[in-house]
Amino acid sequence: MPAKFTLSKEKSGKFRFSLLAPNGQVIATSQDYATKASALNGVASMRKNAAGAALDDQTVAAQPAKTAAKTTVRRTSTARKTTTRRAKTTAAKKTGAKKSVTKRATRKAPARKAPARKAPARKAPAKTVGAKTTARRTVRTPFTTDTVPVGLQVAWRDLAEAEGADLRWVAAPGERVGVSALVTAAERLQQRDPAYLAELDRWTAAGHLDEGAGVPPEAFGVTAAVGHAAEFPLRDFAGGTRTIPPRPVGPLEQHPVVTVLHTPADRPDDWLRAGQALMRLLLAAAAEGYAASYLNQPLELPGLRQQLRDELRLSGWPQLILRLGRPVGPLPPPAPRRPVDDLLI
Ligand SMILES: Cc1cc2nc3c(=O)[nH]c(=O)nc-3n(C[C@H](O)[C@H](O)[C@H](O)COP(=O)(O)O)c2cc1C
Repeated sequence: MPAKFTLSKEKSGKFRFSLLAPNGQVIATSQDYATKASALNGVASMRKNAAGAALDDQTVAAQPAKTAAKTTVRRTSTARKTTTRRAKTTAAKKTGAKKSVTKRATRKAPARKAPARKAPARKAPAKTVGAKTTARRTVRTPFTTDTVPVGLQVAWRDLAEAEGADLRWVAAPGERVGVSALVTAAERLQQRDPAYLAELDRWTAAGHLDEGAGVPPEAFGVTAAVGHAAEFPLRDFAGGTRTIPPRPVGPLEQHPVVTVLHTPADRPDDWLRAGQALMRLLLAAAAEGYAASYLNQPLELPGLRQQLRDELRLSGWPQLILRLGRPVGPLPPPAPRRPVDDLLI
């Protein structure tokens, strides 16, 4: 069935038309017209003008890199699914979910309200994007004891805010105890879950890496014993893998800098914001000699994710938990990347 217009008379006595896609989904709905004739004029006008109409996307101010944004969505979505269990394990679901992320983010953006905190004027992160970009890695080996100076914390938070996300630094001792307990509990639960281990195995298996995705064993970082002994236990990627190369054994830094990237809501367009904010944060950090690894385990278990919200009194939704610092040793080799053409819809 081809697309069609429907014309209806509302309870108010006014006339309204909608454009329906071949599958029956409503693509657009008109304003209310006082007369049927003017509504039919609207249909005629849409028929005549829609095909060649330009798109003035008023939701993006000087957005520099549409390609980068899309890529980030796919990376974020993919990476979350790497470790998100049960509901998102099949490849078919992954594909469907990824498509809806991009499409809905594009369609729904105009209806979103501005984030609660006003975003600062968008500054070009000139210092952050460029040669240093290639040096960005996820680092699961020790960091120095250097903290992140307050000035950088503020600057990185501004970057997240510019994307409609926010950073919550986890510094107060009580909060650190609470967040650490949640990461610890989640890592334990996951490492005992056969379905989780099987998925971990798939994402770290040679075949998968050959296809250009997943986490190579050289990037696993410190051993499970060291990672699990840390204040905030690292995810042990070897949990489901039989053969792995020797891993660094040095202890992790005692008190890593931890921050939670969160968004006002938890819809696909929030995931898009989180991905873009993450991209900015990671590149800005790399430009200053910092790297990150993730402590996302509690975010993958709904009950613990809610507890994290309570612990930090977040009105929004935590999307990523990051450990940030200056790597002591060499960076791991780059993780494989799928070709861009495979990622853009
Ligand atoms: C959105 C997102 C979430 C991730 N979550 C985790 C995590 O919870 N634990 C972890 O050790 N690594 C996590 N990773 C890192 C990946 O597992 C992997 O190390 C990384 O993508 C490798 O590529 P990179 O070195 O270029 O970052 C995450 C990555 C992304 C982008």
